[in-house]
Amino acid sequence: RRACVIDTDPGTDDAIALWLAMASPELDVRLVTVAGGNVGLDHTLRNARAVVGLTAKTVPIVAGAEGPLLGAFMSETRVHGADGLAGVALPHGPPATPGIAADAIRALLRAERSVTLIGIGPATNLALALAAEPALIDRVEEIVLMTGAWSEGNITPSAEFNAWSDPEALAMLLACGRPVTLATLELTAQALVTPARIATLRAAGSGACLDAAARIMESVPTSRRFAHQGHPLHDPCAVAWLLDPTLFTSRDVHVHVECAGVARGRTVVDRWERSGAAPNARLLDTLDAERFFAFLTERLATLP
Ligand code: BDR
Ligand code: CA
Repeated sequence: RRACVIDTDPGTDDAIALWLAMASPELDVRLVTVAGGNVGLDHTLRNARAVVGLTAKTVPIVAGAEGPLLGAFMSETRVHGADGLAGVALPHGPPATPGIAADAIRALLRAERSVTLIGIGPATNLALALAAEPALIDRVEEIVLMTGAWSEGNITPSAEFNAWSDPEALAMLLACGRPVTLATLELTAQALVTPARIATLRAAGSGACLDAAARIMESVPTSRRFAHQGHPLHDPCAVAWLLDPTLFTSRDVHVHVECAGVARGRTVVDRWERSGAAPNARLLDTLDAERFFAFLTERLATLP
């Protein structure tokens, strides 16, 4: 079992990613750290507590950055609603563990030989943890992020939301020297939540987590970009990579994060080795969506 941290900003798809990870015996979720992102930290923290609470498992949940390393915080309520969970109310979860996310990540790295970092929100907390104590970087087994886009963005024409929320932090992670895997928008576009897929999920069980996941999926607006056939389920793709890499194809690439100007947050992905720069990331390229949704359904059905 891989010891891991999930750094998150729930977030509708974050909630489902957390449930997928916590339902999966391959992962030992030791810590959930929370940042402001989709909505402000007060909401993302409350949502993380509620999502973890619904699993009836005990995992420390620690609050972190309210905003990025540099620049102003800006939320994204069009997809996730003002509350971050598209209006789906969940019972209150356990209290947060006192402390600061970056310190809690460092404490876990100190205690463990090898920890996988899963980042499904702005990269601030993870970057702060590694910058504060670089000697711990060797203990990071792998960093898996839902972030970036190599074609077009979803928050600006250039940038994907998580990368745009804290590009400096993302650049720090890409430069840290440990393996980084990216689930970009082009990958998550292949994980489209459709009415048929929600119906299959619903039919698989009646647990509170599965029911909440289905309600969340039903409440997220369909996307214009996908002709309103559904919406992409971004964050669970990053978790699924660690559970069943045979769902994906991938390639090694160099990624540059643009931090200035109109293209702030753009990830310039060298898919065809044009830059001459050595690869610094593994780009997840294709997803077997049918198997992915079957796998997600099977795992969510095991939760309370
Ligand atoms: C990413 O941004 C958030 O809105 C989602 O939770 C996901 O992590 C997609 O761009
Ligand atoms: Ca997220």
